[in-house]
Amino acid sequence: MGYNLLKGKRGIIFGALDENSIAWKTAQTVHDEGGTFVLTNAPIAMRMGQIDELAKKTGSQIIPADATSVEDLDNLVAKAVEILGGKIDFVLHSIGMSVNVRKGRAYTDEKYDFTAKGWDVSALSFHKVMQSLYKADAMNEWGSIVALTYMAAQRTFPDYNDMADNKAYLESIARSFGYFFGKEKKVRVNTISQSPTATTAGQGVKGFGGFISYAEKMSPLGNATAQDCAEYTVTLFSDYTKKVTMQNLFHDGGFSNTGVSQEVIEKF
Ligand SMILES: NC(=O)c1ccc[n+]([C@@H]2O[C@H](COP(=O)([O-])OP(=O)(O)OC[C@H]3O[C@@H](n4cnc5c(N)ncnc54)[C@H](O)[C@@H]3O)[C@@H](O)[C@H]2O)c1
Repeated sequence: MGYNLLKGKRGIIFGALDENSIAWKTAQTVHDEGGTFVLTNAPIAMRMGQIDELAKKTGSQIIPADATSVEDLDNLVAKAVEILGGKIDFVLHSIGMSVNVRKGRAYTDEKYDFTAKGWDVSALSFHKVMQSLYKADAMNEWGSIVALTYMAAQRTFPDYNDMADNKAYLESIARSFGYFFGKEKKVRVNTISQSPTATTAGQGVKGFGGFISYAEKMSPLGNATAQDCAEYTVTLFSDYTKKVTMQNLFHDGGFSNTGVSQEVIEKF
């Protein structure tokens, strides 16, 4: 069911890999709300994922782009405007990857070229996406840009590894670019700090099973699912949140403000 909250709005959605992806659920929900968009992902993910299926379901076109390549991003922005028939109203950055995590390197044993690669993919890519949009003047006034993040940016979760630092950087970019985008183009920029979610990226974190169950027991409302996140993102793309910008918005069932819960105490 939809409310037509995004009727007539055009966007770009990064990061739908498979049906568990937060971006996948977001694309479906945006479609249900009347928005149109292009889907994009890294060329390698095109071969691994099932993005064609999502494109068919939502009547969208796919434009491959490596989010670390300025050339790919400039091309993506130009083509998206052309395909959608006008400037962009919403963008979802739903991208994350740590080579250190993938290779099982501890935080105290980082390989720094892995660190640099993960930072480029997970954090700097957000700046690159916005710089491409900004320079091309491709965003409509009162447009909305959202990136997904995790609370390890503020508090230590040891197994989250160098992704914690990447998320802190990502959240800072939202504030810094949000200033310029707000002043000059009336575009808002926010990050959503989402509960642990069972996706390909999420499950890559060591000890994810314990991690997600702990968060579930700590959160008064329980963990926010990928679908919950999609719905929250739609509100940020809608005209009902026009003055929300440069924020890191916790979407976690109350986890971030809970010291301890009865369920967790009972475990001891
Ligand atoms: N799953 C969780 O527990 C959780 C919690 C909080 C925040 N997040 C964040 O949500 C976002 C989406 O992740 P997800 O959980 O849906 O997992 P996912 O694995 O489905 O999505 C990650 C996406 O990043 C894409 N990607 C990787 N390298 C890329 C590149 N160079 N260029 C373009 N795209 C690239 C992948 O192809 C994939 O589609 C990430 O930023 C993640 O950190 C996830």
